[in-house]
Amino acid sequence: MDNAPALEISDLAVYRGVLRVVDDVSFTVPSGTYVGLLGLNGAGKSSLMAALSGTLPVRSGTIRLNGEDITRARPWERSAAGLALVPAGRQLFGELTVADNLLVGGHLSNKAERHVNVDAVCDLFPMLREKLNQKARELSGGQQQMVAIGRALMANPKVLLLDEPSEGLAPVVVDQMFEAISKLRDTRSLAVLLAEQNASAGSLCDSMLVMTTGRITLMDSAQQKDVNAVAQAMFSS
Ligand SMILES: Nc1ncnc2c1ncn2[C@@H]1O[C@H](COP(=O)(O)OP(=O)(O)OP(=O)(O)O)[C@@H](O)[C@H]1O
Ligand SMILES: [Mg+2]
Repeated sequence: MDNAPALEISDLAVYRGVLRVVDDVSFTVPSGTYVGLLGLNGAGKSSLMAALSGTLPVRSGTIRLNGEDITRARPWERSAAGLALVPAGRQLFGELTVADNLLVGGHLSNKAERHVNVDAVCDLFPMLREKLNQKARELSGGQQQMVAIGRALMANPKVLLLDEPSEGLAPVVVDQMFEAISKLRDTRSLAVLLAEQNASAGSLCDSMLVMTTGRITLMDSAQQKDVNAVAQAMFSS
């Protein structure tokens, strides 16, 4: 469907054991827009990301990708349909080179396409070009995050789920990371769901949601991006 939002989540409920970690969550990510998902430790951001990418089952509700119901689709089917996750904690293969980590993300493409895509990732994050033959574990946290984002981009996704890209980075590196994401925003048309604890991620986003113990407690669809309201919603439970 041409006019369908890139990602549409309706009345989603997800459990971990007996705990309802995603509780009747509904929102959309329109094509080409960035939606911030702000929440403290344990709010349910990663559980929502896992349900969206297909590694945690959905109890009830629906997930649509460009109008297509993917609620019960297998993870690789979602990936082939244009959804990519940049997981929390990066999850790189530390013993593999940066190039090999990127190529893992491009395994569905042919060799020529993979080559073009590695080049495009290096254009986006120029410092990766001279690190291609280095082991991923030798890179700094910020550089590793760029590899993790680059690996997801290798699949040419339409929707990108970014789970706490600032996690574990020093403040100055967080600024560089957000600048890199801002460059991504300027250079590619992607729908992005950006989970963060760091409210300054709001400056990258068209709209913001706040998640508190599994529920969406603030939806800033008016695009006012009222930082005080966001902070208040994040810290109330
Ligand atoms: N593997 C797991 N097994 C059981 N419970 C879990 C697991 N991972 C998370 N939880 C619980 O699920 C709830 C939601 O956690 P989740 O990791 O989704 O939150 P989060 O917003 O991503 O937090 P953080 O900012 O710390 O990454 C919390 O109560 C947490 O304790
Ligand atoms: Mg998390």
